[in-house]
Amino acid sequence: MTDLAFQRCLNPACGYTLSVSDVHTECPRCESLLDVDYDWSRVPVPTALREFEARWANRRNSLDFSGVWRFRELLPFAKPGQIVTIGEGQTLLQPSEPVGRYVGLDAGGLFLQYEGLNPSGSFKDNGMTAAATHAQMVGAKLAACASTGNTSASLAIYASTTQIFRVVVFVGSGKIAYGKLSQALDYDAQTLQILGDFDDALARVREVAGEKGIYLCNSVNPFRLEGQKTIMYRVLESLAWEPPDWIVVPGGNLGNSSAFGKAFAELHGLGFISRIPRLAVINAAGANTLYRLYEQQGVHWNGGNVDHARIDQFYEQMDAERRRASTLASAIEINRPVNLIKCLRALDICSGVVRQVSDQDILDAKAQVGAGGFGCEPASAASVAGAKLLRAEGVIAPSDRVVCILTGHQLKDPTATVAYHSADAEVFADKLGKHGVQSAPFANRPVVVENNLQRIIEALGV
Ligand code: F0G
Repeated sequence: MTDLAFQRCLNPACGYTLSVSDVHTECPRCESLLDVDYDWSRVPVPTALREFEARWANRRNSLDFSGVWRFRELLPFAKPGQIVTIGEGQTLLQPSEPVGRYVGLDAGGLFLQYEGLNPSGSFKDNGMTAAATHAQMVGAKLAACASTGNTSASLAIYASTTQIFRVVVFVGSGKIAYGKLSQALDYDAQTLQILGDFDDALARVREVAGEKGIYLCNSVNPFRLEGQKTIMYRVLESLAWEPPDWIVVPGGNLGNSSAFGKAFAELHGLGFISRIPRLAVINAAGANTLYRLYEQQGVHWNGGNVDHARIDQFYEQMDAERRRASTLASAIEINRPVNLIKCLRALDICSGVVRQVSDQDILDAKAQVGAGGFGCEPASAASVAGAKLLRAEGVIAPSDRVVCILTGHQLKDPTATVAYHSADAEVFADKLGKHGVQSAPFANRPVVVENNLQRIIEALGV
């Protein structure tokens, strides 16, 4: 293998390698996931991480200005002329005292990495720029994904802005927040509403893509995860390259957590960081496959010797019990996370933990993020709810520096937000009650007032 970049089977016992121009979403020999890997001895990496930072100011060079491609030597699978970018990754790490207090941390300890600032409003653009780049490299004319909403919005925006390929998105019927559905429709993506949930939609799109040679942009695409590594580079950059103690991230299909583990392993291997932060992956309690397998059944990476029999047994039982994912954090309503094995590796690299949080915890945390930060969609707030739980358990110390990833913009899914703050008990019960949400301790209720100056002044109470 002479190429600088190549693809390698995740399973160490197989280790099959492919060229970057091969289009596969699993190892052709053993069906494991694939990684993009590099011959690092030949990559011209800068001598110091601060060199990446200097590019930030270079507003006229689109590759320097992109928060993904600014770090291009750390994901060197494409030549600069092949890169597809729409200015993704210009996101912020925001310290938040109010959210820090809510979580139970000392002053200055909590940071929110706000990925809602991306062009399509979620972290997915970090990965989609890399997948779109690879799609262009291999001459793809039609790309597809299954989605709980954000992946489809992201893929659709790359297609509409670049016109490189056409797009078809598979979404679960009635399972997608309106903000996200409206994006796919507005960006003119062909949209198939599958009569099933995300797990069904993903299984079908993988079959169709395989049969019809359509370029698949779900996170089984290893190139996508290369882009998502840069979320961690930007976190480190904002902290002057000093790793925090904890990264806390919601877990759905487990692409982000997998990418974060790879990012830290590579930075450590290259000698850029001497300490790896701990990773906490937070499931919604109604979609908790990772939590059950990792924390309750002890399924770990184990040097690549993962206990597949136990995982198969888990899924068999899930099917026998007809257990479907169910949470109002619809973005992470996933019971068969495709990156499970990669995430186990990330948890191993980062001495990770997994927790589950209820929809009540998620909405309360979301209200706190909204009142003390930028706001986010429900799934994103699982990170803050998870940090609070880990703090209460004593796993996170009060003095720790903790980064919670806010994966998606607040306006993606306003239904839950409005219902939480609503003064109307029927709206509350209808939208939230069925998910076990009983109360709204942080509700900011709108006040209905007569169209009359005196009444308005009285209502203001000033
Ligand atoms: N947060 C948001 C807002 C998401 O949209 C997703 C995933 C996640 C967290 C979970 O990330 O899959 O990397 O563990 N959304 C996917 C989608 C599944 O189709 O948009 P993950």
